[in-house]
Amino acid sequence: MPGWDLLLTNARLATMEPGGEAYGAREGAALAVASGRIAWIGPQAEVPQGEAAQIIDLEGRWVTPGLVDCHTHLVYGGDRAAEFELRLTGATYEEIARAGGGILSTVQATRAATEDELYHSALPRARALLAEGVTTLEIKSGYGLALDHELKQLKVARRIGDSLPLEVRTTFLGAHAVPPEFKDRGEDYLQAVLAMLPEVAASGLADAVDAFCETIAFSLEQTRRLLQAARDLGLPIKLHADQLSDSGGAALAAQFGALSADHLEHTNEEGAAAMAKAGTVAVLLPGAFYFLRESKLPPVDLFRRHGVGMALSTDSNPGSSPVTSLLLMLSMGCTFFRLTPEEALAGVTREAARALGLGASHGTLREGKVADLAVWNIERPAELSYRFGFNPLHQLFKAGNEVASQ
Ligand code: NIG
Ligand code: FE
Repeated sequence: MPGWDLLLTNARLATMEPGGEAYGAREGAALAVASGRIAWIGPQAEVPQGEAAQIIDLEGRWVTPGLVDCHTHLVYGGDRAAEFELRLTGATYEEIARAGGGILSTVQATRAATEDELYHSALPRARALLAEGVTTLEIKSGYGLALDHELKQLKVARRIGDSLPLEVRTTFLGAHAVPPEFKDRGEDYLQAVLAMLPEVAASGLADAVDAFCETIAFSLEQTRRLLQAARDLGLPIKLHADQLSDSGGAALAAQFGALSADHLEHTNEEGAAAMAKAGTVAVLLPGAFYFLRESKLPPVDLFRRHGVGMALSTDSNPGSSPVTSLLLMLSMGCTFFRLTPEEALAGVTREAARALGLGASHGTLREGKVADLAVWNIERPAELSYRFGFNPLHQLFKAGNEVASQ
């Protein structure tokens, strides 16, 4: 074992590699790490003789890939508890948005906050995810809606990645809503976002571009122009699509070879088929479905039938999904959306990594991949979806370094 930094013995691995056993399971296994990568996986009985700097006997515990939360709006100012109270007296999410509340109230609070304030308010949310085994996290902008404030959000997102053992991927969501200074001038604001794009790209602060394609936000045609501009700049694409209505967003995302199309409650068969062809991942967000009391389920059967990969994520944000538990999304993904526990776990590992363009390096346990490893006190992988409100994480490794244990 030349140069192994870590050897985990007596492990049961849910590798999440497709094609073999359920969960890509390998029982009675050992896993070795060198230079932050998985160096060797094999049967316990076949561990090569030699030295590893550290050996940990996992006593039969299950190991999964570190979890990936592939769709969050984690950095924002203020909260929307008052809006929640309003909704409980009958106002809808769309009514509140049209009346200038909703996303725009968070925009006001985010613009008023300093970079430090945003950082310190987002940090506990990122820590909560980390404490449940998350090692990779996507964070979108979209509450600044002006270049300096959008960049401020993206900088805070990067800072979270620099200060916590999390791989953070950032997404520019300038086309999230039309800000108050552009009221009733949505097209002018879209032009402003198009003008921001080259600077955002040059800043290196955004790993992808996203937009909210919806009747209360940007039309299909406006979204098309934005995605074209993003693609021309070489930026990968993600899209909030078909959340509240069937706007053809999923098919549009696929047409641009998007990494993912997200929400998708109203996606039709044409959209699902286009996504399958393009390899676009369907990111399902049961937290928003729950919190907005939606009744239209995303077309999981269509995605299965067409072979569209399905990811699950928190959509952590103050308005439609103020949740910071990815494990809870496993439960909701199964109970609301009827995913199998195996699909749900793949949704927060392999498929979520693909939704971030990280499929080659993250999301499964395979030799050569980054050694992001979550060790669980469970008897079978389905327990991760079956329990809710309980965290069975035993130990967490980010690139082979232990970053949490309990
Ligand atoms: O993913 N759909 C648009 N954006 C967010 C909600 C943002 C908000 O309400 O603040 C979402 O649900
Ligand atoms: Fe979202």
